[in-house]
Amino acid sequence: MAALFGLFLFSFFACIARAQVPANQTFKFVNEGELGPYIVEYDGDYRMLGVFAAPFQLGFYNTTPNAFTLALRMGLTRSESLFRWVWEANRGNPVGENATLVFGRDGNLLLAHADGRVAWQTNTANKGVVGLELLPTGNMVLYDSKGNFVWQSFDYPTDTLLVGQSLKAGKTSKLVSRASEKENKDGAYSLVMEPKGVVLYYKSKSPKPLLYYRFPETYSNEKLPVDQLTFNCGPERGDGYAYPMTVEYFVANSSVGGFSPARPKYNSTLSFLRLGIDGNVRVYTYDDNVDWGAWEMTFRLFDGDQYWEESQCHLPERCGSFGICEESQCVACPSSHGLSGWSKTCAPEKLTSCEAKSFHYYKLEGVDHFSSQYTIGSATNEVDCGKKCTSDCKCLGYFYNRDSSRCWIAYDLKTLTKVANSTHVGYIKAPNH
Ligand SMILES: *[C@@H]1O[C@H](CO)[C@@H](O)[C@H](O)[C@H]1NC(C)=O
Ligand SMILES: *[C@@H]1O[C@H](CO)[C@@H](O)[C@H](O)[C@H]1NC(C)=O
Ligand SMILES: *[C@@H]1O[C@H](CO)[C@@H](O)[C@H](O)[C@H]1NC(C)=O
Ligand SMILES: *[C@@H]1O[C@H](CO)[C@@H](O)[C@H](O)[C@H]1NC(C)=O
Ligand SMILES: *[C@@H]1O[C@H](CO)[C@@H](O)[C@H](O)[C@H]1NC(C)=O
Repeated sequence: MAALFGLFLFSFFACIARAQVPANQTFKFVNEGELGPYIVEYDGDYRMLGVFAAPFQLGFYNTTPNAFTLALRMGLTRSESLFRWVWEANRGNPVGENATLVFGRDGNLLLAHADGRVAWQTNTANKGVVGLELLPTGNMVLYDSKGNFVWQSFDYPTDTLLVGQSLKAGKTSKLVSRASEKENKDGAYSLVMEPKGVVLYYKSKSPKPLLYYRFPETYSNEKLPVDQLTFNCGPERGDGYAYPMTVEYFVANSSVGGFSPARPKYNSTLSFLRLGIDGNVRVYTYDDNVDWGAWEMTFRLFDGDQYWEESQCHLPERCGSFGICEESQCVACPSSHGLSGWSKTCAPEKLTSCEAKSFHYYKLEGVDHFSSQYTIGSATNEVDCGKKCTSDCKCLGYFYNRDSSRCWIAYDLKTLTKVANSTHVGYIKAPNH
C-alpha cells in the first residue's frame, strides 16, 4: 500500500521546516497551559499542531476548563487578541486532556476522547484520500491522488462563512448560532438557505421555529429552487478601489440574484460572515495595514444603516425574557400592575396553573410580537383569538391586529416592539392571586 502523507508539522521552536509525517500518526492533545492549546505530543516531543496557511491555522481552543474544540482560526499576528475562530469540528462534543487527533492510513481524520470514543470524524475512510491541506482561503481539504477534494471544511460551516464559502443544498444548508460565549453548543438561531433565498429562524417554545427576518432579495422560480448561497468579496471591476461583499444565490451553478452587505474601500478579502449568539448577522473584516484594531465590523443586519436593515427591536431576545422595545432600546417592563422601567430581570409573571379560572389577561396597546412582522398569523376575530390562547396551556399571550384581523399566539413573549398604531394589541396572561 502506498504510504500516505499529509499532516505537516512545524517544529514548535522553528516554524520553518516543513516536515512530512506518516498519515497513520496520532497526535496526543496535551492541555499544557504554558504552551497554549495548539501543542500536541508527537514522538515524545511537544510540537505545534502545524496545519497552517497564513492567516489560518488549525488548533484547539476552550471557553470552559478542559472542554476543547478542534477549530480553524484566522489572524496574522501571534497576539491572541487578534485571532478569531472561524470554523469548528466538534461543536457540542468537546474533548479533554489526552484526546487524540488521528489522520489514519485509511484517509479518515478522527478526533477521539481519551477513552477512545469518537468525538468527530470526516468519515472519509477508504475513499482514496492521500493528503490533508489547509488552503490560504481557510478551507481545510482532504484530497485524493487526482487532487479532487474528497472532504472540505467549507462544506461544514457552523455559524460562520468565510469568503468563497457556501451553503449548499444536500450539504450544510444553514448556519446555527452558538449557545453562549461559554457554551459551544447549538444556540436558538439559524440562518437557513431556502428555495427562495435566506431566512432567519428563532427556535422558541412554539412547535415550529419562528421566522424573524427574511433577506431583502428573494428569487421566485418554484421549479428551480436556490441550491447554493455563497459569501464573496472581491475588487470592483474598473478601479478596484472598493471591495464589495456579496451574498449570491445560485441555481445549478448559475447566479440568480443576491445582495451586497457591505462595500469597504480597502482590500477586505479577509472577512467572515457570522450568525451571532444574539441572532444578529455581522460581517467582520481584517485589515493588516493597521497595528491596532485590525478587526472591523463592516456589516450588522439589525441596527445597520442600509434601507433594508432592521431595528434591533426585531431581535427576539433584544429585551431578554420580556420587555417593550422602541428604537433599539428596551423601554418598559410590562406587568399586570402596569409598565415599569426595563431591566435584565424583567420577566413574565409566573402562572400557577393553566386552568382558565387561575389567570386573567392584561392588555398592551400599540405593540407587536417579534414574530408578527414575518409571519402572517391566523385570520380570526379578536374573541376567538383569545379563546385559542385560553385553551392552550403553553400560550403565554396573544397579539391581535385590528386592521388586518390577524391573530398571533405566543409561546414565548421575549421582545415586544412598540408601534405607533394602537390597533395592534397584545393580551398577556397573569395569575389571579
Ligand atoms: C497505525 O497503523 C498500525 C499498523 O498498520 C495499526 O496497528 C495502528 O492501530 C494504527 N494506529 C492508528 C492510531 O491508527
Ligand atoms: C492523561 O495522560 C496522562 C499520562 O498518561 C495521565 O497521567 C493523565 O491522568 C491522563 N489524563 C486523563 C484525563 O485521562
Ligand atoms: C456545478 O459545478 C460543479 C463543479 O464545476 C460540477 O461538478 C457540477 O456538476 C455542476 N452542477 C450542475 C448542476 O451543473
Ligand atoms: C487582498 O488580500 C488578499 C488576502 O490577504 C490577497 O491575497 C490579495 O492579493 C489582495 N489583493 C490585492 C489586490 O492586493
Ligand atoms: C393605523 O393603521 C391604519 C390601517 O393600516 C391606518 O389607516 C391608520 O392611519 C394608522 N394609524 C396610525 C396612528 O398610524
